[in-house]
Amino acid sequence: MAEVVVLRWGHRRRDERLTTHVALTARAFNASGLILTDVEDNELVQTIKKLVSEWGGTFFIRMGIPWRVAIEEWKARGWVIVHLTAYGENIQQSDVLERIRLLEQNIVVIVGSRKVPDEFFSSEVADFNVAIGNQPHSECSSLAVFLDRFYRGRALSQTFKNAKLEITPQKHGKKVIRHSAS
Ligand SMILES: C[S@@+](CC[C@H](N)C(=O)[O-])C[C@H]1O[C@@H](n2cnc3c(N)ncnc32)[C@H](O)[C@@H]1O
Repeated sequence: MAEVVVLRWGHRRRDERLTTHVALTARAFNASGLILTDVEDNELVQTIKKLVSEWGGTFFIRMGIPWRVAIEEWKARGWVIVHLTAYGENIQQSDVLERIRLLEQNIVVIVGSRKVPDEFFSSEVADFNVAIGNQPHSECSSLAVFLDRFYRGRALSQTFKNAKLEITPQKHGKKVIRHSAS
């Protein structure tokens, strides 16, 4: 199965919660990690590390790399760059997802925050500009829909290795199993 890494551009300290939610969305929907470009935020890293240590799996965070350098690095490794933007090809009305899948390559998914650099839309950066509908909404919602469709919903039934906490789904109420350390 192709691997996906999420590149978050435009994180600001006052957006910490939103970037945390981008990371949570990425992890829950089967991405392998998050690249936070241009800035560093150690609090965010600690939050995600704690979450991974409790809820399991492996999810990396890299940060501080200038976005151009990050894009060049991942392109050089043969990864395909998908930029999520309301201005792109509509995932529902075009065959853009099929064209991405046909490449059978790993993917870097770019999500922005405020207005992203114009270069993101060019073929120098984005192999695909994908719109999750052509109305503006949010980096979290667009990422969730893209990953859910890309992985055909399978991410929602995955289990995470080495989890200390695991939810048992209930019709009513909350049940969480706490696994003791082995
Ligand atoms: C709150 S939006 C910012 C929009 C910004 N005002 C602009 O014009 O680029 C933040 C990010 O959410 C993602 N996003 C928002 N709506 C989207 C959509 N309809 N399709 C795909 N991505 C979307 C994009 O990655 C965007 O950079």
